Amino acid sequence: MKAILVKEDTKELYIDQVATPIANDDELLVQIKATALNRADLLQRRGMYPPPPGASTIIGLEMAGEVVTVGKNVTTWQIGDRVFALLSGGGYAEYVNIPAKVAMPIPENLSFEQAAAIPEAFLTAYQAICWLGGLKTGQKVLIHAGASGVGTAAIQIIREFGAECYVTVGTEKKQEVCLSLGAKLAVNYKIEPFEDKIKEVTENKGVDIILDCIGANYWQQNINCLALDGRLVLIAAMSGGNVNQVSLYEILRRRLQVIGTTLRARPLDYKTQLTQEFSQFALSRFLNNQLTPVIDKVLSWQNINQAHKYMEENENIGKIVIKIL
Ligand SMILES: NC(=O)c1ccc[n+]([C@@H]2O[C@H](COP(=O)([O-])OP(=O)(O)OC[C@H]3O[C@@H](n4cnc5c(N)ncnc54)[C@H](OP(=O)(O)O)[C@@H]3O)[C@@H](O)[C@H]2O)c1
Repeated sequence: MKAILVKEDTKELYIDQVATPIANDDELLVQIKATALNRADLLQRRGMYPPPPGASTIIGLEMAGEVVTVGKNVTTWQIGDRVFALLSGGGYAEYVNIPAKVAMPIPENLSFEQAAAIPEAFLTAYQAICWLGGLKTGQKVLIHAGASGVGTAAIQIIREFGAECYVTVGTEKKQEVCLSLGAKLAVNYKIEPFEDKIKEVTENKGVDIILDCIGANYWQQNINCLALDGRLVLIAAMSGGNVNQVSLYEILRRRLQVIGTTLRARPLDYKTQLTQEFSQFALSRFLNNQLTPVIDKVLSWQNINQAHKYMEENENIGKIVIKIL
């Protein structure tokens, strides 16, 4: 099969032939029709985010496609079924083998390109906010990088839970999109700090959950913005991972929790349970358009370098989808 590989010296991406994976008895072999970019792909390309043991070394954390081989022990899927799934690697290719348990049926109103934009963003957001954040109706949640793939998914999930969402973003266009998805406040962090705005909108009570991928630069404001029993769920540290002068007293006094997570390295059972619970919550909502994958661009895989550059420059609002031709 063909796959997108990384040139050792220049770190550019190119398409070449590699061995086609083989599905074991509990797996499906899927012909990939579309995949989508994730921030982690940029790191993996530069050699800074190696795949977990046993995972494909090919980049790509999600895909949508058609089942072409069904493992002997699998009774729930048939050849020709349209599926989409989270991957621990291997999405930038013509074929991938996946455990049958993590495959989700593509709602009939969604194209392969739309379905490919869902798994990583929505499962990450669902896991971080609902499982780790413990989201409840009526709570208040702050999402950083609100217009990112994960952010645009998070806003919609929070809205569907009947909770209130505030975001931070870096452009006016991103503010508009987040508000249109259901955020009640979108702060442009390049113009003003978010802390005062969050205190104002919550009448000084603060938020119950923060979903943070920024890290060091936001640490103090995040702690200052959390309500009593608040949870800070950390999924990345794009501004850096070292914080000086942390005061533990605020964490003690307000009973705060700081929770870190990376979904890719979680065991299969965890991902299976997450996929199943998310499917119950989300598939019917995708079908009736209560949830929608937010897609910035769909590009051919010939343009993969251009796609990575676009994400590196923080241009995308929602997902960049790649068609596998
Ligand atoms: N732990 C996990 O399991 C997990 C899983 C998936 C994703 N993630 C993380 O979640 C984040 C979102 O992922 P994604 O693929 O959805 O991202 P994305 O679509 O590429 O969006 C990232 C956005 O973050 C903002 N940003 C970048 N650097 C920043 C900085 N230093 N300070 C403030 N804002 C910054 C930019 O938007 P603005 O223009 O608004 O600044 C950028 O467009 C990434 O950090 C990713 O690594 C973690």
